Amino acid sequence: MPPLVLNHSSRPVVEVPLIRSCFRENCVHWTDTQGQRIEAHGAGLLQSPLDHRWYWYGESEKYANLWGSWPLNESARHERRAAVRQAAPGVNLYSAGSLEGPWRFEGRVLSQWMIRARLGQNSGPWIVERPKVIFCARTSQFVMWFHLDDSEYHFRRVGVATSSGPAGPFRFVHALQPDGLPSLDMSLFHDPGDGVGYFVRSVNNSYMGISRLSADMLNTTGIISTYSVLEGMAIFRLANGTYYMITSHLTGWDPNPLVLLRAAGSTLDNPLWVNMGNPTGHQTSFNSQPTFVVECRDVSGDAFFVYLADNWIHAGPRGLKDAGYIWLPFSFGDQSVSLPKKWGWSMRNPFANNAPSHGRTQGGGARNRSMRHVNTAGLAAGGVRVTEPSNSHGDSCV
Ligand code: DGJ
Repeated sequence: MPPLVLNHSSRPVVEVPLIRSCFRENCVHWTDTQGQRIEAHGAGLLQSPLDHRWYWYGESEKYANLWGSWPLNESARHERRAAVRQAAPGVNLYSAGSLEGPWRFEGRVLSQWMIRARLGQNSGPWIVERPKVIFCARTSQFVMWFHLDDSEYHFRRVGVATSSGPAGPFRFVHALQPDGLPSLDMSLFHDPGDGVGYFVRSVNNSYMGISRLSADMLNTTGIISTYSVLEGMAIFRLANGTYYMITSHLTGWDPNPLVLLRAAGSTLDNPLWVNMGNPTGHQTSFNSQPTFVVECRDVSGDAFFVYLADNWIHAGPRGLKDAGYIWLPFSFGDQSVSLPKKWGWSMRNPFANNAPSHGRTQGGGARNRSMRHVNTAGLAAGGVRVTEPSNSHGDSCV
């Protein structure tokens, strides 16, 4: 979780949890309630409709030498088997009462061993990336989708798993190529407007395709729209109905300029994406690659959107093993949307000046209710002014 910061002023001291993104090597790594580093990359977040807790699903720590430890020798000493088992890629889960944390480790909710049980005891090791979970009201199941691949990224499938609760246990249902097409980077989008689920992915690293999910959310029902090839996609939607998608280009683990797309069309069947460029204005997007967008409300109930991203290889000397997190609020202006670099900010008042780039952190700046919240987004299709947060799932993030 982000460290707690004291607000030193003549007024009563208030503890304001600040989100301190990991932009560079000497960052403070986020830790869970046990003081362990949070290992949940390529994240997908969900506020459970059952208990309203936040659940953060993500890739386990990137393994330094997975291939050297594989195949697992069944005669290997027990301790070594346990070590390999722990290090093999899977999905970690953390939960918290608020998006600010503190985050409690709930365990490895999807493991290499569940996949092997389905795809063959001698198969693997399997790459597990970008897990996303949505709740299917029709079946009352939590449905997880993730990019499932071999070490050469030739398998190009998704894995689907289900659970009756947000914290698992998840049951591996199947591996598939949605709509019969090879699939790499992927995400899910649960439309807050009508509850429809969508799947977006890089099709064979040739183009990006969006499909609607089946009623049980275990499959897709055909591609409904395409765009040029991008990855690290995350779709979100304003209360006025306008869809956005934040994405990156394809440069492996290296960061590159983000691409923000705004739909001029009113559906994802015909989104008519308008390329709004790189909202960070920075060549490597502060060393980030998108993974998800969460809609939040601040303490006043105003809606804003949080960009969730990974700093894959610029967060520590060990590269991928030291991957860190970058979370920033989208700032909506009259004619543009930006992602300003913020060293420390509060979900309670996301557009206050919370922390200088260097030196001592200051808590809680003056409230700056402004164009930055989505309710003044002049970019909305048809120029509609938005007055209600679009999060039909309800609760605040703080
Ligand atoms: C970029 C993707 O966004 C990541 O999820 C991962 O697949 C890497 N490429 C692998 O190089």
